[in-house]
Amino acid sequence: MEQRASQYLAWSDSLLTGDPKIDADHREIFNLLSNLWSDDPLSRTESMKVLVAHLTDHFAGEESLPSFQALPALEAEQHRNEHKVLGQFVLQAKSGVCQDEDEFMGALMNFIQEKLIPHIRNRDKRLAGR
Ligand SMILES: [Fe+2]
Ligand SMILES: [Fe+2]
Repeated sequence: MEQRASQYLAWSDSLLTGDPKIDADHREIFNLLSNLWSDDPLSRTESMKVLVAHLTDHFAGEESLPSFQALPALEAEQHRNEHKVLGQFVLQAKSGVCQDEDEFMGALMNFIQEKLIPHIRNRDKRLAGR
């Protein structure tokens, strides 16, 4: 894996929420993202399918937690909307997975830094009371 990519994909304990299930899911998301860094477009396509399925389950799981149900209505709506945006990005990326590799990887790294990590820090930590 190239240096530039590995720094974005490294799991950091600063992302822990304190909820074991959420944290296990998030670690798995990072593992699945690192599987995308393959030179082989077919293997990228396969990894992308697994990632989409895992994310769908993960978002549904969070949204059914008692701590999610207990959020103020506006906050719950914002959290749900961010799940939609994250899911849409990954679905879009899935259709571009066989296109220009640099472009694809650039978009993914941007996704991790600008969308996924802030979501975990600002939204998911609240589910575990942090
Ligand atoms: Fe999450
Ligand atoms: Fe979330």
